[in-house]
Amino acid sequence: MKAPLIDPFARAITYLRVSVTDRCDFRCVYCMSENMTFLPKKELLTLEELDRLCSAFINMGVEKLRITGGEPLVRRDIMTFFQAMSRHLETGALKELTLTTNGSQLEKYSEALFAAGVRRVNISLDTLDEEKFARVTRWGRLAQLLRGIDAAQKAGLRVKINAVALKGFNEEELPAITRWCAERDMDLTWIEVMPMGEDIGSENRIGQFWSLKDVRAEYENHYSVSDLSERSGGPARYVQLAETGQKIGFITPLSHNFCESCNRVRITCTGEIYTCLGQEGSADLRAPLRASVDGPDLLDDAIRAAIGDKPKGHDFDYSRQEVAGTMSRHMSHTGG
Ligand code: 5AD
Ligand code: SF4
Repeated sequence: MKAPLIDPFARAITYLRVSVTDRCDFRCVYCMSENMTFLPKKELLTLEELDRLCSAFINMGVEKLRITGGEPLVRRDIMTFFQAMSRHLETGALKELTLTTNGSQLEKYSEALFAAGVRRVNISLDTLDEEKFARVTRWGRLAQLLRGIDAAQKAGLRVKINAVALKGFNEEELPAITRWCAERDMDLTWIEVMPMGEDIGSENRIGQFWSLKDVRAEYENHYSVSDLSERSGGPARYVQLAETGQKIGFITPLSHNFCESCNRVRITCTGEIYTCLGQEGSADLRAPLRASVDGPDLLDDAIRAAIGDKPKGHDFDYSRQEVAGTMSRHMSHTGG
């Protein structure tokens, strides 16, 4: 083990999110355009490079690794990467290996993920209506995702559902989605739509920004809701529903209130490190990674330099009914 990664605001970096591909088999309206141009394969870190990069972070104190995309499970041979990372679980250096997925490949991979030491998965699902699901994901099919969820639970993976809150789209499904999660013993978190990529409201007319304050108010129309003080170290806040005992998460990426406890950094599939989701600034780790195959450890130096530049917080601002600080990159670039 090397010295831990501590940023200028005394935050220890223990959580790494890594995007392994910018590709996806869905085209969710709030995430991608219909005709996406993806990166040429040679720009991507190889699985061996991803291994070296993640291992470098784990040697510097990262304890939680989340694999994202695009859709991580559409990357060719991705299971060999999960299998390779499981060695860090075995040594105890890594406490958790997990992923965020659209669920389309879980029927195929759930057992292998469990065998590699994955115990929890976050699965995106915004609606339980087949037609609406096809509309919001453009290319996705609900039945395939539901089979994936069955397979995940059967394999022993704990499932958390992430639903993007879209006014006029899944608003009226809130009780049904909540009940469905309770019946299947799955956690549920609502995510406020972020101003990334295209404007979901005007172009696609799928729905509108639905503030989580209003989502919470909607819960109060159906349940007795109490706020929980516990935090997961991330942006989520939780409420408890008295009737079912369920804890429901809310992720409001646009509020500043979690920046001071931020313990995470993100890496794109090309090896750029983003130390804050809401800032444009990034640093390249691919060049030092490729230059330090067996030479001096330029990679460690580059990682430490990037952490040394981690900003205090982000600049999203939804006030005055207009979106300031809108990010030009898509979610599939930095990973969800
Ligand atoms: N706003 C909020 N969430 C988004 N996701 C993708 N794009 C956006 C956006 N613009 C979510 C997905 C999934 C996770 C990977 O990120 O729905 O839950
Ligand atoms: Fe794919 Fe997830 Fe983006 Fe949807 S939100 S297009 S599933 S990466």
